[in-house]
Amino acid sequence: MTSELNTQNSKLLFPVSDLTWDKFIYPRGSKSDKTISAYVEALEIGAQFPPIRIQRVLNYTDADGNEIIEVTIILDGIHRWFAFKEKGIKEIAAVEWKDRPIDYEKNKTALLLESAKYNTSHGDRLSSNDKKRVARDIASTDPECKWTESALAEKLGVIQQTVNTWISDIRARQKASRNTTIIRLSRLGWSQEKIAEVVGLDRSVISKNVQNTKISDMHTLLAQGHDMEYIARHYNMDLPLAWALRLEGKTDQEKFKELGWGLRTWDQWSFNECDERFGDDWPGRIPAQLIAHTLFFFTKPGDLVLDPMAGGGVVSDVCLLFERKCQAFDLTTRDNRPEIQYHYWDPQKWTWPVTKKPDLIFFDPPYYIKKEKAYREKANEKAPSISSCTREEYERFFEGFFTLAHKQSKETTRMAFLNADWRDFESTPASKEKPDKSITIFDYHRLLSKTGWETIHRIECPLSSERLSGNQVQRMQDKRILGTVGRTLLIAKRS
Ligand SMILES: C[S@@+](CC[C@H](N)C(=O)[O-])C[C@H]1O[C@@H](n2cnc3c(N)ncnc32)[C@H](O)[C@@H]1O
Repeated sequence: MTSELNTQNSKLLFPVSDLTWDKFIYPRGSKSDKTISAYVEALEIGAQFPPIRIQRVLNYTDADGNEIIEVTIILDGIHRWFAFKEKGIKEIAAVEWKDRPIDYEKNKTALLLESAKYNTSHGDRLSSNDKKRVARDIASTDPECKWTESALAEKLGVIQQTVNTWISDIRARQKASRNTTIIRLSRLGWSQEKIAEVVGLDRSVISKNVQNTKISDMHTLLAQGHDMEYIARHYNMDLPLAWALRLEGKTDQEKFKELGWGLRTWDQWSFNECDERFGDDWPGRIPAQLIAHTLFFFTKPGDLVLDPMAGGGVVSDVCLLFERKCQAFDLTTRDNRPEIQYHYWDPQKWTWPVTKKPDLIFFDPPYYIKKEKAYREKANEKAPSISSCTREEYERFFEGFFTLAHKQSKETTRMAFLNADWRDFESTPASKEKPDKSITIFDYHRLLSKTGWETIHRIECPLSSERLSGNQVQRMQDKRILGTVGRTLLIAKRS
């Protein structure tokens, strides 16, 4: 920077070619060619202009997606800058807002408002449309509603009523998704204090929201022939929650029927597909029906289910449907799954994040190194998924986890443990497989017994074999390779 002086708000001469016009920060929808021509003419007769306003920012991504370490953006004076460029003048008088570079992403809203403030007060004023855009941009990047309508009105030089009409739809949507989070968490058994912490609202607002969740006209909409996707959209909520409200108060069996799931009476639970309505697309996602059956046979409404490795959140969705409480954890968390809390099960330092003794632990860990790459991509090096473990580390992990879970459970707690045999079969004929390389259901059973759990049921929940093409199957047969589609749910109790 060719600065004469560079203290806060002091004037400096800045190279015209080094300035960036940021279309998000500089709120004028389109620049006015008429204004630029007028300024060019004024420069020709030697007019002096007030300095433009600028700011150095860090971590900036330009319009082409290039990441630039530091740029100087214009906060006010875009027409003067264009006029100087057109006249071939190399330097322009400028005043910097802050006398140090600031992080662009972190200060986006502050920059936008600072720019809007200058633009509301000088000659070529912001149009009402520009102000509306600023208000809407700020509201949509401020889900916690820190910027009130009156604060925005003051900054933009308009009355509060105007800001209300500009941003009311955005605020309504934000409120709706917040309400959805409140209802979801409260149904899963979260305390009002904890919900208040997550959504950033006062406890009294939470309790009001929880009381107002009766959706009386849902049945009218259903009678009119609307489907559940329509209804979920109508109430601004996710599909599993809409289903949970629709099924509220029905018996477990009635719920199976309404969801279109046949209830299996014997210990072979075979489901070809995941039900796309519940849980997110996730590596190793399991069918909602499998969880529903586990809840049906081993829990009752109101019981607490612990999902220690929640992944795509299908267990909490099914708990919502069947009116069970749920505490869910994973090493990856996402905004659309507020109920999944971050927890890294660390064999070097075991901790137990669950606040109440669970009635059921539904444990669906990675099946040894199956999908290792997919889980590695979701984890980080300091807290890797157990699918990156060696065989010995993997076994030790389960021994540690089962011991901890045993200590933290009650007499009646059940452990539902889902896993599949991992065998070294990929290109190995069945008779040549090396058993020391495999880890099977017998190993998990052994580890459960060793840590004080008695296996009381073994339920087969096979994976589909249709994933393999005819050619692949032929090749396996030619080499006498014995594939694995078995997947087993072990139910254990404290011995
Ligand atoms: C098989 S997936 C769970 C899938 C889930 N039941 C579903 O249907 O979407 C296993 C999960 O374990 C998590 N995980 C692996 N190691 C972990 C650890 N040490 N601590 C916490 N989570 C872990 C992974 O991030 C992954 O989401």
